[in-house]
Formats: sequence, C-alpha cells, structure tokens
Amino acid sequence: MADTLTVTDNRTGKKYDLPIQDGTIRAMDLRQIKTSADDFGLMTYDPAFMNTSNCRSAITYIDGDKGILLYRGYPIEQLAQESDYLETAYLIVFGELPTSSQLHAWSHQINSHTMLHESTKKFMEGFHHDAHPMGIFLSTVGALSTFYPDAKHIFDEPARMRQVHRLIAKVPTIAAYAFRRSVGWPYVYPDNDLSFTANFLCMLFRMTEVRYHANPVLTRALDVLFILHADHEQNCSTSAMRNIGSSHVDPYSALAGASAALYGPLHGGANEAVLRMLNEIGSIDKVPEFIKRVKTGEGHSRLMGFGHRVYKSYDPRAKVVKQIADLVFDVTGKNPLLEIALELERIALQDDYFVSRKLYPNVDFYSGLIYQAMGLPVEMFPVLFAIPRTAGWIAQWQEMLLDPEQKIARPRQIYKGAARRDYVPREKRP
Ligand code: CMC
Repeated sequence: MADTLTVTDNRTGKKYDLPIQDGTIRAMDLRQIKTSADDFGLMTYDPAFMNTSNCRSAITYIDGDKGILLYRGYPIEQLAQESDYLETAYLIVFGELPTSSQLHAWSHQINSHTMLHESTKKFMEGFHHDAHPMGIFLSTVGALSTFYPDAKHIFDEPARMRQVHRLIAKVPTIAAYAFRRSVGWPYVYPDNDLSFTANFLCMLFRMTEVRYHANPVLTRALDVLFILHADHEQNCSTSAMRNIGSSHVDPYSALAGASAALYGPLHGGANEAVLRMLNEIGSIDKVPEFIKRVKTGEGHSRLMGFGHRVYKSYDPRAKVVKQIADLVFDVTGKNPLLEIALELERIALQDDYFVSRKLYPNVDFYSGLIYQAMGLPVEMFPVLFAIPRTAGWIAQWQEMLLDPEQKIARPRQIYKGAARRDYVPREKRP
C-alpha cells in the first residue's frame, strides 16, 4: 500500500500522486495542480484552521475524542497529582523531567528573576484606576522588551534562556501588581524563599504582617491549576505566539500578542465569562430557562465553559479541577454559585442539544469558582490563565524558532473584492 493520495483534476483530466506523511498531505504539493502554465496553482481554503497542521510539535499531545492530554508524553492527571508548576514548566520547556540538581538550578534561576524594574511600577500607575488587569498585564509584558534589549538576540541561546527565566519569573509579579493596582493596595515585592505559587499568593494578599503564610491547600490547588493551564498545543493564543514570533520579534512582544489572544471570551476570558453567566442566572430555578435561551440562540448566549474545538468528550482538565474544587471549598467555604454550575452541568449533559454536539464542560467551567473562592475578582481570571500558559508559549516559540521548516507566517487569501478600476475624483462620485 503506497503512502500517497491520487488526485484527479477533472478540469484537465490530469492525475497527481501526492505523498502522505504523518496523516497529512503538504498544501504546497497542491500548487503543481494547474489548468494552464500561468495558473497560480491549487490552494487549500481553511478558515479558522479547522483541518490544517501548522507545525510539527513534540510538546503536547491531545486526543480530543478520548479526552487525553499529555505534556511531553506524561498524562496531565499524573502531573497534577505528582508534580508542581515549576517542575512541569521545566518539562514543557526542555522536554524531560528535571533531575534534582536541574530542578534546583531551574528554581534558583526563576527565583532570582522575580523582581520587576522599579520603573515598571510608574508605568503601571499610568493606567486608569479601573483598568482591566489583563489589559495592564499584556501591556506590561510587552513593555518589558524595552527593559531587556538583549531579548532581540533570539538565536543567541544564553540570551534566549535569560528571557525564558525572566518571563516565567516575572509574569506572577506583573499579575500581582495589576491586581493590587486595581484594588488600590501597595505593591508587595517577591519573597524568593517561598515556592512559586506561595510567593504569588503572598504578592497578592499580604497586608501588614511580617510574613505571609499562604494556606498549603490553596498553594497546592494553585499549583494544580497552573499545571493544567501550562500548555494546550496549537490553540488561538499559542498560534498567535508562533505567528508573531515567526517575524523574529523579541519574546516579550510576541507574548504580549499571545496574551491579547488569550484575553478573548472564547479563549482565556471564558472563565471570567462563566462567572458572569452564573451571576446572571442567579439561582438554580432559572437554569432551565437559561438553557432554553442558549438553545434558541436568544441574546446570543452560549453556555460558557462548555464546548471545545478539540475535546469532543469531557475535558480531562475539567475533571481534575472539579476534584480540587472540593478541597478548596473545605478551606474557603463553598462558592454559592457552585450549585448553579452543578445544575447547569447536570441539565446540559442530559440535553440532546449539548449531547449531539458533544459539548462538555471545559477547564474553565469550574476554575473561576475556585479563583473566586480564593478571593480573586473575575477580572483577574484571564491573568491567572496567562501566568502558567507562559511556559507553553515560550516552549512553542522556541520550537518554532529552531524548526528549520518554519518561516515567517503568511497565509494566502481568496480575493473576492472589486476588480481593477480607475480612481474617481470626488466631484464625480455618485
Ligand atoms: N454553548 C452553546 N452552543 C455551543 C457552545 C456553547 N458553549 N459551543 C459550541 N456550541 C454549538 C455551536 O453553536 C454549534 O452549533 P451548530 O452546529 O448548531 O451551529 C456547534 O456547537 C459547534 O460549535 P462551533 O462554534 O463550531 O465550535 P468551535 O470548535 O468553533 O468552538 C468554542 C469552540 C470553545 C469556541 C465554543 O465551544 C465556545 O464558544 N464555548 C464557550 C466558550 C468557552 O468556554 N471557551 C473556553 C474554551 S477552553 C479554554 C481554552 O483553551 O481557551
């Protein structure tokens, strides 16, 4: 059996044998299919990249039908059970679990880059008092490129590695500053004796106490949530990171763009949208009415936190989130919106509209309830997604840079506008 696809062009009667590799044909192999010598050649049309692989990647594997998610081959459930965020970030960036000494060196590198330049604070002060923290986050990440001119040297490995450390280390500090700016509290400097997530909680919530002692259950829950959000192969924001990075801009600028893509309600903004939706529903008895509105498309509402481009079964991350929710609520008290969420899930999973479209809860359905119970405002939710996703964005960016097959990203279009025509002077226009 040959690994080829035979295509007959019925316009010309010509046959073409196209190689099949890894279950794909190369779109460029279609270019030879022409009706005449001056024909540009056949292209593919794939809005939203529904069936187009843009790269070869060794980072994250998803089987959407079976609900499988692996980072570098390791199941997400095992990492959520055994690992912590920094170790998982190392795995995602370098491809292997670290030895003890590698983990020690990695943690030391990250810990020694957590501080922000003092001018960053002044920069943040320029935002309006009620600025959305995600707007502050993505602008500040982009601004970091002006502080680190060596970031331009993307093919110089030590320089690139410095930005990797800086980015992973500084995003929690930026996020915490954005939060404290929005509530009018003084900024808290990083405490490098603490773990990654304990330090983040400290920067968020420390008030006048000399030492902030984060609750270990909440610290661990945050680690698990960060592990679950660390990478998800070629989603909208990761594709943005790769696309922007393909112009060889510095990683801070590319990551600002990726964060902007994440901000949207169909992507990382979904957990914020879930909470707004639950608040809008207000009580369990209103759930059936809301589900009806979603199904009829009234008010353009979707069931936020449900559905996924890739998962056509229960999102494996959502299963883990649901488990840790109980542990968190034991500490914080139950989020009153949980009952509405559970009822929504119960009804939706029995309803033919959702079942036939294979719409199941995704990672964002329950994560917002946990973040809210921890005392974080909904505006912070996309920022809390961006912190761990930084590891994935960086790993995917590096992989793209070092892939000899990659070039500047430049899709084609099908032009459907006006044919060539001459300029009409203003007084002669109808
Ligand atoms: N509520 C109601 N109907 C839905 C939903 C939903 N949440 N999601 C999809 N559908 C319907 C959609 O209307 C369409 O129906 P029809 O075939 O009758 O036109 C069908 O299901 C297929 O939907 P689609 O829009 O073609 O699917 P997609 O793959 O383009 O969209 C999605 C994926 C995640 C954008 C979408 O499911 C959605 O908008 N979900 C709500 C937002 C959300 O929770 N996003 C977080 C995703 S997970 C975190 C992340 O990785 O970013």
